[in-house]
Amino acid sequence: MSGDARKTAEGLSYLTGFGNEHASEAVPGALPEGRNSPQRAPLGLYAEQLSGTAFTEPRAHNRRSWLYRIRPSAAHPAFTRTGNGAIRTAPFTETVPDPNRLRWNPLPQPPAGTDFLAGLWTLGGNGDATQRSGMAVHLYHANASMERVFSDADGELLIVPERGGLLLHTEFGRLHVEPAHVALIPRGVRFRVELLDESARGYVCENYGAPFQLPDLGPIGANGLANPRDFRAPVAAYEDVEGPVEVVNKFCGNLWTATYDHSPLDVVAWHGNHVPYVYDLRRFNVIGTISYDHPDPSIFTVLTSPSDTPGLAGVDFVVFAPRWLVGEDTFRPPYFHRNVMSEYMGLIEGAYDAKAEGFVPGGGSLHNMMSAHGPDRETFDRASAAELRPQKIDDGLAFMFETRWPVTLTPHAAGAEHLQQRYDDVWQGLERHFRG
Ligand SMILES: [Fe+2]
Repeated sequence: MSGDARKTAEGLSYLTGFGNEHASEAVPGALPEGRNSPQRAPLGLYAEQLSGTAFTEPRAHNRRSWLYRIRPSAAHPAFTRTGNGAIRTAPFTETVPDPNRLRWNPLPQPPAGTDFLAGLWTLGGNGDATQRSGMAVHLYHANASMERVFSDADGELLIVPERGGLLLHTEFGRLHVEPAHVALIPRGVRFRVELLDESARGYVCENYGAPFQLPDLGPIGANGLANPRDFRAPVAAYEDVEGPVEVVNKFCGNLWTATYDHSPLDVVAWHGNHVPYVYDLRRFNVIGTISYDHPDPSIFTVLTSPSDTPGLAGVDFVVFAPRWLVGEDTFRPPYFHRNVMSEYMGLIEGAYDAKAEGFVPGGGSLHNMMSAHGPDRETFDRASAAELRPQKIDDGLAFMFETRWPVTLTPHAAGAEHLQQRYDDVWQGLERHFRG
């Protein structure tokens, strides 16, 4: 953490557009013209392709980038196993899936010197990382910047800060991410996290499945929800560091470490569409009713990871952003429901309009498939009696990781001291009003 880092973070420039074929060079002339792999790459760099999808996937889904670097990624010693800390990976088999509604308070303070990687704590997940399906929910609480470099072969990482700014140093360049923004690190991309404040806390969705993409808009039309041009990728920036650098590689659920004799963040130029990016959730174009009822929360989808079944996501990232409620003769908070999908919700700031209390920033709730949930009693009573004038919901920013399979907990999440013991009570006292 330093003032210099914040200054650097706030001064960064970006390339814009979701899924674009970007190109960037930190040194003029570093990027080859007209071909990917010339006989001799410019400036004595090594050319290297990084695939995010199989070579043969349809063009619309194909992700890959070409990196021009001081040393090829292949120049490294053997990896050896290191401790996994509180990180766990699918398949999750250490507990049985729980049909109960569950809610946690924020993670406790970590010991001094805890970096982003050491501060990662897996709540649970589903699928199987080796089959490239499913997802994991992690939280993090860190108070030190990473000296080491991390990459995740198991999936892409959607980082959702709740407290504390981050400067992400990636192979592609640097990204600044603050609470109310999200950052995505693609599968396999090396990065380290520098803290911009005393501590940092937040959430991570590890997506083992198809890379997140923007949802189709259907009858909404050509615009709306998250607009592609608001996604920002880094410009090339590199570290020319000779000397020992620890690189940690998450592979099929385990952490492996190797000490390189140079920094692997040594990419001087790159082009492609398999890139890290940031997005400001306040840019989300919220769409809702202007007549009655409200659409299903899928209308708030920022990013979706499609599965083989059209419309069925491995995981959706959904945001409940500030918005106007104007529905006539409508119960305006989120309705009571049972969902075939499973929902992990977190809160970035303020309050959520279906929960009067107990759901706090940095905490989270899990409603697994078919578990009955919805507004708490206090919210139900208030919303049922409210005068239905136009109302601005602007005091909170909540999100959801919504996934096709139940989330099975890790033992440390199932037994956590910060797991609330009386969450069911929020639905107690919903009185009988039936007049038959
Ligand atoms: Fe729900």
